[in-house]
Amino acid sequence: MEKIDPVDFRPEKVAPLRVDPPGSLTSMPSPTKLHHLHIFSDENYDSMVDFYQRLFNAEIVRVNPNGLTFITYDDHDHRVVIIKRPGAMKKPENFIGVSHQAYCYSSLGELIYVYKRMKEWGYKPIWTVNHGNSTSFYYNDPDGNQVETMLDNFTPSETKEYKRYYQWSEEFSALGDPTFDPDKMVELYENGVPDSVLLDHTEVCKLIKRGEL
Ligand SMILES: [Fe+2]
Repeated sequence: MEKIDPVDFRPEKVAPLRVDPPGSLTSMPSPTKLHHLHIFSDENYDSMVDFYQRLFNAEIVRVNPNGLTFITYDDHDHRVVIIKRPGAMKKPENFIGVSHQAYCYSSLGELIYVYKRMKEWGYKPIWTVNHGNSTSFYYNDPDGNQVETMLDNFTPSETKEYKRYYQWSEEFSALGDPTFDPDKMVELYENGVPDSVLLDHTEVCKLIKRGEL
């Protein structure tokens, strides 16, 4: 095999997305996107890498021998890093800190596809729910960190208004956060029930009441 010279992979020059001349920014910028998460692990390090590689249909960009695995699912160099921390303490039951990470998908079909593959690989969701604003499948990674795969049920601006004014209104609260059966969701979806029904909070509540979801 031809020997790789690491220096060949250093770009000739830096190429930032944008250059702002000094003084040209006049208001506080917001981030463009969430770039990556670092997750500490210990004895479950390998299964943590396996979980995220499978869940994200991801690519491992770099494994450092001192216990860092850089995982990505798009054109960025890393989205999740699993870091080995020998002897680190587990989070207590009732902890303060990040509760879960959520990843949005493009369609209900994608969420269902992910659900079916994850189930085949032995990863079952811990909660499947129509929150009103979103349809969400929650998983636990091997260390017990919660990961949500989700889809907004409306356009982003509609979802924002829905949350701001409708969600937790009296009418909404009467229906609540309905937990659905993911296998029944798959069945309905595959039998041709349209997304417009399967993502609709009110329709989902009705289907659950009838034992169909
Ligand atoms: Fe969430």
